[in-house]
Amino acid sequence: MIPENSGISYRYLSKIYDTCKSSFWENYSRFLNPYFQGEKKSVLDLGCGTGLAIDYLNCEPKDYKGVDYSTEMLEVARKKFPDHQFYTKSILEVNFSQQFDFVLAAFDTLNHFLNPADWKKVFGIASNHLAPSGLFIFDVFSTYDQEMNWPDQLNMTESENWVYIQRSAYDHKSKIGSITNTIFQKRASHWLRLDDTISKISLPTPDILILLAEAGLSCLEIVDLETGERPIGTTATLVFVCKKSNELPTYADR
Ligand SMILES: C[S@@+](CC[C@H](N)C(=O)[O-])C[C@H]1O[C@@H](n2cnc3c(N)ncnc32)[C@H](O)[C@@H]1O
Repeated sequence: MIPENSGISYRYLSKIYDTCKSSFWENYSRFLNPYFQGEKKSVLDLGCGTGLAIDYLNCEPKDYKGVDYSTEMLEVARKKFPDHQFYTKSILEVNFSQQFDFVLAAFDTLNHFLNPADWKKVFGIASNHLAPSGLFIFDVFSTYDQEMNWPDQLNMTESENWVYIQRSAYDHKSKIGSITNTIFQKRASHWLRLDDTISKISLPTPDILILLAEAGLSCLEIVDLETGERPIGTTATLVFVCKKSNELPTYADR
């Protein structure tokens, strides 16, 4: 069941998303593409949005399934990639009878889940859908980013027909951050204003590692998206590369 208020922001954002958000994928694809060398891969993209992963990966996956609860984001994805499969559903309801070379949850998708128990459910779903040698790759923004950078952040992007203003805030008590999106859309005789707020949380890395382990996943690598190096205290975006737990050394062992 999809909650009724799911994806309100993305309903508005879907029309301008690819123009505003592609800079994230420019960095991300530099990190991801080495994994996607060689034969075509199967990919399960959790929270796929407009399908930017397919736009930015070097090879078009041989078998791609994208899942998102926003009808409007998927509308854009389906138009761009009519030959790939997209499913309008909550990530928490994903249950394909198939295993994939890659499971992705890209661009803050995990941070949308406000309850750590749901992070664990998503990790379990990723684990269930991974082929034995498959990789689960996801990124999150850090607790440092949310606590230190969000309170003062205001971004504006504009084009001829729209203006997109993004303001973020952080509540230290609840540890919940919010992003208020304001979009002005140009109409024939006026500008239409649309507002919505998305809440997000971040979790400390040790907590994420525990949840991954509980879901049967080992973390092979954690990287600062901006530098491509091991994260430091001020890292804003962390990328985790995981596989199903087995005897291989994990990040925690190193
Ligand atoms: C920031 S966007 C990232 C989209 C895409 N992965 C990308 O890299 O551009 C987050 C996406 O996650 C989707 N999403 C968030 N929570 C979800 C949930 N519980 N079930 C399905 N989709 C969800 C949103 O609709 C949105 O499209």
